[in-house]
Amino acid sequence: MATVLITGASRGIGLEFSRQYAADGWHVIAACRNPAEAEDLDRVNGDVVKQALDVGDQASVAALSEAIHGEPVDVLINNAGVYLDRNVELGEFDYEHWRGSFEINVIGPMRLAEALAGNVSRSKRRLMVFITSQMGSIGDNTTGGAYAYRASKAALNAAVKSLSIELRPREVACLLLHPGWVRTDMGGKNASLDVRDSVNGMRRVIENFDFERSGSFLRYNGESVPW
Ligand SMILES: NC(=O)c1ccc[n+]([C@@H]2O[C@H](COP(=O)([O-])OP(=O)(O)OC[C@H]3O[C@@H](n4cnc5c(N)ncnc54)[C@H](OP(=O)(O)O)[C@@H]3O)[C@@H](O)[C@H]2O)c1
Repeated sequence: MATVLITGASRGIGLEFSRQYAADGWHVIAACRNPAEAEDLDRVNGDVVKQALDVGDQASVAALSEAIHGEPVDVLINNAGVYLDRNVELGEFDYEHWRGSFEINVIGPMRLAEALAGNVSRSKRRLMVFITSQMGSIGDNTTGGAYAYRASKAALNAAVKSLSIELRPREVACLLLHPGWVRTDMGGKNASLDVRDSVNGMRRVIENFDFERSGSFLRYNGESVPW
């Protein structure tokens, strides 16, 4: 049976990834900040194990790594993320929000990649997925704003590109995925996509993704996103 580890599994896109992989018979390691409070995960049918994980806390990442020591992880989905600077303009910057954006959106996924590279390389599928955003695309930025969020996702994209090159000899692939604009707490009610359709699309992209394309930046429907 294949294993997927999903960060930020308590709600939104992470919860839906957990639901869909569990429904398909995968072993799901659902990593979330407060497992006791992640009640929606308790209602997911299938082989789901909750694990405590705060991606902003090095000790928490080390504890997760210890808990799943030696266990192969076919697909690692770095999904946890924050969007802290909505509608913030010059003169209103909150540098704690900048620090928080980089801590969770960039350093968090890198912590996971470092801690779990061995688990992923021991698996059959050997894939690390990073849920980024089209808002991290510099080429696609025509509306501005969201300075810290955009900068953090652009930094994530740059870091994952390097990671994909370093992990090539270990035959571990890396994939940057934009989920679309999705109706979750983060995306809001007016977003264009239902979370089921976004995750369904991303799962298809993950399933068909081959090692030769490691380091790609793709949309949930498989199209390339400009850097
Ligand atoms: N929704 C969209 O339209 C959209 C578009 C582009 C990209 N994305 C990206 O997609 C990913 C998921 O977004 P979403 O829409 O599902 O957001 P969401 O509904 O706000 O859920 C965010 C998830 O991240 C978790 N999280 C936040 N900080 C964490 C931390 N320090 N450690 C561990 N988990 C943490 C949250 O856990 P708690 O429940 O504990 O807070 C929650 O499970 C993010 O990376 C986001 O940037 C979303």
